[in-house]
Amino acid sequence: MIKRVTTGMALAGFLLSATASAQKKGDAAKGKEVFEQCGVCHSHDTDEKKMGPSLKGLYKKAKMTNGQKPTDASILAIVNKGKGTMPAFADVLSAEEKDNLLAFLKTL
Ligand code: HEC
Repeated sequence: MIKRVTTGMALAGFLLSATASAQKKGDAAKGKEVFEQCGVCHSHDTDEKKMGPSLKGLYKKAKMTNGQKPTDASILAIVNKGKGTMPAFADVLSAEEKDNLLAFLKTL
């Protein structure tokens, strides 16, 4: 009897934490590792221009160079399709890696 109650509570706790982690989209710490693939061409902690423009404060900008407001969708579109000499990452990164990457970009 006691054992059944304990098991039930542990299960409830597990379900709660599983829901909580599913709601939090993207892990910025993991995204920093994904960003290593962008870091050759983009700085993230200085305004220095490398091959591409610095991505420091990307989400805080009013507009990107293409005139669009930086949002998850507009940034993901650039990452997926590439831009100018920037390669496309649509098939290079998984959906989870892209979520993590966007979470990291938001911290810049
Ligand atoms: C080989 C170099 C290279 C790599 C790797 C690269 N980029 Fe770029 N990126 C560029 C260049 C060059 C531009 C500018 C293109 C243009 O405007 O014609 C650019 C533009 C951008 C822009 C638009 C910035 C703005 O203000 O308009 C974003 C956002 C971006 N890159 C994100 C990323 C992310 C995220 C990654 C990693 C997944 C990445 N890039 C990897 C070269 C690169």
